[in-house]
Amino acid sequence: MSAAILGLSGSPRAGCNTDIVVRRVMEGVAEKTGRDANFVRVADFELRHCAGCRQCMTLGRCAIGGDDLDEIMSYLFAAQILVIGSPVYWNSPPGIMKDFMDRSHGWYTDHTILAGKRAAIISIATGGGFASHEDAPGATFTRSRISRAHGARARAG
Ligand SMILES: Cc1cc2nc3c(=O)[nH]c(=O)nc-3n(C[C@H](O)[C@H](O)[C@H](O)COP(=O)(O)O)c2cc1C
Repeated sequence: MSAAILGLSGSPRAGCNTDIVVRRVMEGVAEKTGRDANFVRVADFELRHCAGCRQCMTLGRCAIGGDDLDEIMSYLFAAQILVIGSPVYWNSPPGIMKDFMDRSHGWYTDHTILAGKRAAIISIATGGGFASHEDAPGATFTRSRISRAHGARARAG
């Protein structure tokens, strides 16, 4: 279901730390703005791995079809406010979230694809790795990339 506010969790574990924090922030934003919200877990969708074909660099979207990527993307593009959270696994996002990030590689062709949206990026970790998680070069959902490359206004926490 598309909504004005999207809470997107990249955790493989349902109902645990990342889901809890993303939901809380999403609900807080919904309460404050009076807008509708939708919570989505990337791990609940069927998502194939990036094949590395780089056709996305000319198509502007992933060339792999037949899975749920377009559905997740539709929620993301429909929302005005994005609350995106991911646990830190070895200073990086977990594999499922990384697959999602890799599959959005074609956004490079349009640096305004998220223009006008506001985004909160949430890192969840036991104790370390936040900085490299958020600033990993080339990662789509880092504070720097989401704002500099894709046009959204982002805050990290
Ligand atoms: C494979 C793996 C690697 C992890 N690597 C890190 C890490 O580098 N730094 C850290 O502080 N926590 C690390 N953690 C801990 C998780 O970030 C932490 O438990 C987090 O709360 C998990 O989120 P969840 O409750 O949504 O599953 C790791 C956990 C796993 C399973």
